[in-house]
Amino acid sequence: MIRRLQHVGRMLPLLLMVALLLTGCGDPYLSALQPKGSVADMQFNLIKLSIIIMLGVFTVVVVIFTYVLIRYRKKKGDNSIPEQVEGNHKLEIIWTAIPFVLLIILAVPMVTTTFALAKDYSNDKNVVQITVTGHQFWWEFEYPDQKIKTAQELYIPVNKKAHIKLESADVIHSFWVPALGGKKDTNPGMTNYLWLDAKEEGVFQGRCAELCGESHALMDFKVKVVSQEEYDQWVAKMTKGTNKPANNAVLADQGAEIFQKSCVNCHAVDGKGGPAGPDLTNFGDRTTVAGILKNDKKQLAKWLTDPEAVKPGNLMIIPKLEEKQVDALVEYLHSLKRE
Ligand code: CUA
Repeated sequence: MIRRLQHVGRMLPLLLMVALLLTGCGDPYLSALQPKGSVADMQFNLIKLSIIIMLGVFTVVVVIFTYVLIRYRKKKGDNSIPEQVEGNHKLEIIWTAIPFVLLIILAVPMVTTTFALAKDYSNDKNVVQITVTGHQFWWEFEYPDQKIKTAQELYIPVNKKAHIKLESADVIHSFWVPALGGKKDTNPGMTNYLWLDAKEEGVFQGRCAELCGESHALMDFKVKVVSQEEYDQWVAKMTKGTNKPANNAVLADQGAEIFQKSCVNCHAVDGKGGPAGPDLTNFGDRTTVAGILKNDKKQLAKWLTDPEAVKPGNLMIIPKLEEKQVDALVEYLHSLKRE
């Protein structure tokens, strides 16, 4: 008895720790348990169905187990050997048939959902076509019909399906937006597909869900679900570029000069995507720098000064910049805005 209590004593902190850790999984924009789109709904329904079935089985087993344990326990002073039973046709049929029926109940919606999720919308004119490319450690989003490329923040109109082609520029990544659906790997040399939609406007967090290197855990992105109107505006501004005057035009011009000299080899600001790095068109509108830092002056300066400290193993090649040059670049990048 004492040993058993010691056992419980040892397990308790572990259980409490797990409980504490799991409470951290409640972010509504990063939870598959709070679906905001059709795909996420379907996936959540499957989760619910299988949990209900498992809980049902668990409850029945525990109840029978407890009943038998109490009802047939050895009584004080009774040393007789109970009746020895071997085989029972009726029971064997029952405990074979019940799991069989349960598996059918689980399999039918599972298979129909799988087919619904694998539906090919690549030729549907009413569906937004997007190509997602995973890079170490950022996401490239291409809209082939609109001929635009962007990075880190994926725009889709609300209540409209998006057909997503998944590709990789280097290693295996995995595209996952818990509140909207997923996840599916982006494999080098291979194209995968998925579709998703969102039923309400908002910003939904995305993650890379496949260990892909040093900064795998920092490979975040966002899905911005906006009205059709705002989406159209966004597309127009992506192709027309920036027209907002900077707060400090002189400083921004200096920044633009540095950018043209040092950054254009990898990055673009015309919505066409750079040769190597993330497209930075309308960068001033982004909520994050490198997908993880808040897009303010301080954090952007931090990134430009030492990207390796922020995202270890990233492939950004940046010249040593003086503080003044960093300030100019920050001013310039923040001046790239839609309006
Ligand atoms: Cu990309 Cu993990």
